[in-house]
Amino acid sequence: MRLHNRLKRKPPTAALVLTTSIGLAASTATGARQLSLVTNGEPAATIVLASHPTRVAEFAALELQHHLRLITGATLPIAKGDTRPEGTCLLVGDSPAVRALGIKPEQLLFEQYLVRFHPGAVALVGHDCPDSGEVVYDMDNQYYYKAQSADDFFADGRSMRTPVDGTVARGDLRAGDPFFRGRVEGDTTFVTEFPVTVDQDLMHRGQERFQIFCAPCHGLSGNGNGVVNIRATALAEGTWTPPSDLVGQSVVDRPVGHIYNTITHGIRNMPSYKNQIDPRDRWAIVAYVRALQLSRNASLADVPADDRAALENLGTR
Ligand code: HEC
Repeated sequence: MRLHNRLKRKPPTAALVLTTSIGLAASTATGARQLSLVTNGEPAATIVLASHPTRVAEFAALELQHHLRLITGATLPIAKGDTRPEGTCLLVGDSPAVRALGIKPEQLLFEQYLVRFHPGAVALVGHDCPDSGEVVYDMDNQYYYKAQSADDFFADGRSMRTPVDGTVARGDLRAGDPFFRGRVEGDTTFVTEFPVTVDQDLMHRGQERFQIFCAPCHGLSGNGNGVVNIRATALAEGTWTPPSDLVGQSVVDRPVGHIYNTITHGIRNMPSYKNQIDPRDRWAIVAYVRALQLSRNASLADVPADDRAALENLGTR
């Protein structure tokens, strides 16, 4: 904000004059010289670059132009070329015009800079890397705070602000304990009914997610013997807690809300999967776990009467 205001300051319209003295000895002899950059709000000088300037020089020219505009309201033209334009010139970076003044930028140390005043010209030269190319002078170069940085603008000294208490991100209103927590509304009891419609689509989704996220440990059939368990058992390091059998009676007896809660927060040695699996997918997985339990624990009596004969025939074939 503070920085922003600085940019918005109204430019004065008066003339901008650089007063220079050329060499200590010369100044006593010739007195101070004046270079007018802006007169009556109009540009009175040209910023001069080589025809193929380095990026650093081009950027410096744009910065110079920008700051002179902030100070005076006038935009000095930037000319590129091998010949020096008429009138007062601000010579930025290596160029034939700079060399014509006897300046040899390569004789400067790396990152050493030179500001030299000549009659009708100021040379601003550094020893640049030979890096030329496109300069994008736009929002890449705005004022901004770096993430996590300190600043004294706010009383707490942080540049980053925390959300106002009670802020809910768009699309993230977690209203509804059964769906988001697996619990009865306003209560800690786990729900026993699905808070979503269980249909074929949900079941397919649940199968897919289960096979990605749960099967490595619990196995494709849910019996607890996934590849991770097989490997850990073979290593026999003595530290492995086997994944629970999801089709066994203890998990069959769990309310659906409890299984949902296990995926969300993990349980004992099992980690939480809330960051990988969103609430709807967690319910899809719970539905699929129920389907696995049903398929593993079904008896002939669970099969519709019309289909039983076919199954019995299978058994005797
Ligand atoms: C990294 C291995 C691993 C993965 C992946 C994993 N689990 Fe587990 N899970 C375990 C272990 C280990 C236990 C037993 C923890 C214990 O007893 O300390 C367990 C226990 C459980 C239990 C029994 C909890 C109870 O009520 O006692 C359920 C249900 C369960 N997991 C469901 C899932 C589901 C659903 C997924 C997929 C979203 C999943 N697990 C993914 C390792 C895993």
